[in-house]
Amino acid sequence: MRKKIVVGNWKMNLNSEKAYKLLENLESISFPNDVEVIIAPPSIYLDSFSKAKKLFISSQDVSSNDNGAYTGEFSAEMLSSLNLKYSIIGHSERRQYHGEGEDLICKKARQLLKYNISPIYCCGESLENRKSKNHFQVVKSQLSRLLNEFRGSDFQNLIIAYEPVWAIGTGLTAQPSDAQNMHLFIRQLIDDKFGLEIAQSVPILYGGSCKPSNSKELFSMNDIDGGLIGGASLDADSFSTIINSF
Ligand code: PGA
Repeated sequence: MRKKIVVGNWKMNLNSEKAYKLLENLESISFPNDVEVIIAPPSIYLDSFSKAKKLFISSQDVSSNDNGAYTGEFSAEMLSSLNLKYSIIGHSERRQYHGEGEDLICKKARQLLKYNISPIYCCGESLENRKSKNHFQVVKSQLSRLLNEFRGSDFQNLIIAYEPVWAIGTGLTAQPSDAQNMHLFIRQLIDDKFGLEIAQSVPILYGGSCKPSNSKELFSMNDIDGGLIGGASLDADSFSTIINSF
């Protein structure tokens, strides 16, 4: 049985007072034992958030380098020293605003795996790609380096997040059946490379305007193992409903 996972990606939102209040509210939410709830706050809060009791904490990014002269960055070794177990990498906002590509994102994945931190590896096509029916090809190419340069055992520590860019923060959500088709496609890519057992063990999350009104239907799909939630994770009630919609 694959893990059910919900990740709240707070992006660059909430001042410290609001962030700690929301964390406190979320820590008091009840949810089933078989759901793993992960919060990815702005990195400035990671140290104190790492003491959370019920929730797992993730960073939203990590450096591709070892410790050294890289002003403004933080390393996988630092995340590990806070006992963090997850880090988002390759989010479409990093790809768009910071020009990140597969080469860099895979270096980040390697750094994380070296310290036993699970990368939450994001992929997803643009609206243009989908309109021109290139979406499967685009997602395949976003994952090809990962599939070709990493081992099956690495995939056992990896989470994939499929986030169609046109659905992020726009209120537009992929139809559950379209999302399911892409998740199945991704699982088949893993199967082709590493076999069914590993393919069946990798959690694949959906992200992009996932909210209380659609999470149940999305999470009921065979190959959707949970969600990467942006906007709706900033409200304790909405997030709680999403966590409880498996
Ligand atoms: P959204 O963001 O839920 O606000 O669409 C999802 C994400 O970017 O991770």
